[in-house]
Amino acid sequence: MVRIQYLEHETMKWFILVSLVVAVVAEEAGELPSAEPCDVEACKLPECRCSTTDIPGGLSPRNTPQFVSLTFDDSVNILNMETYRRLIFNRRNSNGCPAGTTFYVSHEYTNYQLINELYNRGYEIALHSISHRVPQTWWATASLEELRQDIGDQKEQMAHFANIPANQIKGVRLPFLQMSGNTSFQVMKEYELLYDHSWPTASLRDPGLWPYTLHHESTQDCFAPPCPTASIPGPWVFPMITWIDPNGFPCSMVDACTSFPDREDENAWFAFIMQNFERHYFGNRAPFGFYVHEGYIRAYPAVERALARFLNVINHLNDVFMANAVDIVEWVKNPVPVNEYRARPCKSVTPSFCPASSCGPLIGQHNQMSYWIPICNVCPANYPWVGNPLGR
Ligand SMILES: *[C@@H]1O[C@H](CO)[C@@H](O)[C@H](O)[C@H]1NC(C)=O
Ligand SMILES: [Zn+2]
Repeated sequence: MVRIQYLEHETMKWFILVSLVVAVVAEEAGELPSAEPCDVEACKLPECRCSTTDIPGGLSPRNTPQFVSLTFDDSVNILNMETYRRLIFNRRNSNGCPAGTTFYVSHEYTNYQLINELYNRGYEIALHSISHRVPQTWWATASLEELRQDIGDQKEQMAHFANIPANQIKGVRLPFLQMSGNTSFQVMKEYELLYDHSWPTASLRDPGLWPYTLHHESTQDCFAPPCPTASIPGPWVFPMITWIDPNGFPCSMVDACTSFPDREDENAWFAFIMQNFERHYFGNRAPFGFYVHEGYIRAYPAVERALARFLNVINHLNDVFMANAVDIVEWVKNPVPVNEYRARPCKSVTPSFCPASSCGPLIGQHNQMSYWIPICNVCPANYPWVGNPLGR
């Protein structure tokens, strides 16, 4: 009897020890708790929201502002700035406030003086990685440390070279919209980034999926796995609700539709945009996205004219607002009816001066290429890149 008790005691000791070791190893491997199905009672705004098509704040569709998220990806340079000037500068919503647009900026070939100008004009500057490296699959399996360096550190890099406040940089879009499981969201949490705008949904399109948090299990379909499955309180998912192309297939970015109207035909493109918009506007008013690369607009003037016409139409609708993606997430956190939203004073930006320098030639340590970079700071000694974001 005594002998058995002794054995049990020893087994127990071993059990506790082994559990401790497992827990420590799991902790070090960054293993996260799995997300559980969402409990609407436990998950409340402004910090938590279940992944659902319900309108925030329990508003009816007609009391809900229809937000439009126009976004451009990749580097900002003097060529694409011309399109931005033509298409969006000085554009206002029907309440007289400046119409928002978000830029997901990658570092290589970006002119940071133009980033400073876009910021001062009230547009949102967000992250799209330093390297934007290929292949796409690299992003699917990137480690925590790799994503810290390529996305997390881009926040400081952007703030430094564009001379804008780091705390105004809050958004992320992953290159190629390639999700990296829990990892990019862990990085966002560490670097105090508010939302991700990379994750397309086709199944939760009509009614549309509103932005939500990852405290609990996501109900969203996964286009480019792996998608996050851990519970990661903090960052928001701003889903990219897909369009439907003329053959009935989903497209996450407008320039990625496999079928489309004739790109010389402005009227057909205008109708195509309106059809997709109306699914939102006459539905649950989940944010409508026009997600595109500037090159597509520049290559097809009729598409640009159709887009400008669409923006002119919505800029005259009392309940439609082009807004920076971050401001749409802020509205979701603290939803107010459309009349209250309309009547708000316009937000203003404290302008940030650009002490301009044009720096180069700087040799990329990763590729031996020589670069010139226009920035709003003193010139770095080396070409800024992953692992050395400020080019020290
Ligand atoms: C994300 O975290 C959950 C919970 O720890 C885990 O089950 C899942 O495998 C992780 N995803 C990836 C792609 O590592
Ligand atoms: Zn890109």
